[in-house]
Amino acid sequence: MSEELLRQVKVNGSVPAHVAIIMDGNGRWARERALPRPFGHKAGMKAVREVVEGALAAGVEVLTLFAFSQENWQRPADEIGALMDLLQEYIAREMSELKAQGVSVRFLGDLERLSPGARAAIDRLMTHTAEGGRLALNICISYGSRAELARAARLLAEDAVAGRLDPAEITEEAVTRRLYTAAWPDPDLLIRTSGEFRLSNFLLWQLAYAELYVTPVLWPDFSRKQLFEALLAYQRRDRRFGKVSA
Ligand code: IPE
Ligand code: IPE
Ligand code: MG
Repeated sequence: MSEELLRQVKVNGSVPAHVAIIMDGNGRWARERALPRPFGHKAGMKAVREVVEGALAAGVEVLTLFAFSQENWQRPADEIGALMDLLQEYIAREMSELKAQGVSVRFLGDLERLSPGARAAIDRLMTHTAEGGRLALNICISYGSRAELARAARLLAEDAVAGRLDPAEITEEAVTRRLYTAAWPDPDLLIRTSGEFRLSNFLLWQLAYAELYVTPVLWPDFSRKQLFEALLAYQRRDRRFGKVSA
């Protein structure tokens, strides 16, 4: 079933080079089963594996996942603790497979706020997979887009004060180069699960011309099949970038 969808994606061509996903709905998935919220987060790890495999199969080049926002630090301490434990579990379990698949993993966000153990695990995974050339996987953790933009402004001001940058040269390009995502083109497609129609402070600059796809499916139920359906929906869109259609 999902293989037939994949075949259609390939026949259509023009697979989005960069897909971003707001992985939402873990808590509701757990609540539907009368389980504590961390069970939903744990179930969500399988969906991460599914989308990484689906992205590799479809030929997506960059996959950027929103895993934990700056605002999520305001959640109860036990939920945050469970999420940080899961992060380390994910890294321990997936590291060799990700490397074997040719995935290079980067973590984007204010990583200083993470525990020393989580930071060490993140550094290990980034170093271990740095050579991967098939898929760039960005995991946004402790990430907020406004904070990222304020940081870019700070970096620009530092360069200007030091005489390395003429304020007249502060272009869109100069801002883009100082974002966490500087190395990658903007996302072509943004997927949000769990039926919420909002950005929740995710990639506000980078999503300027992304196609938006919202599905009611809760993140733990998201699979290769749902990813391929999103890619097919994307392939039916007419991207105009403000111009008129060809
Ligand atoms: C997304 O699921 C995961 C994180 C934000 C960490 P939620 O935990 O937001 O799940 P809901 O939205 O409450 O269902
Ligand atoms: C956005 O989901 C953040 C992540 C998926 C990591 P939230 O569940 O935190 O967003 P809101 O609160 O519904 O906007
Ligand atoms: Mg949520």
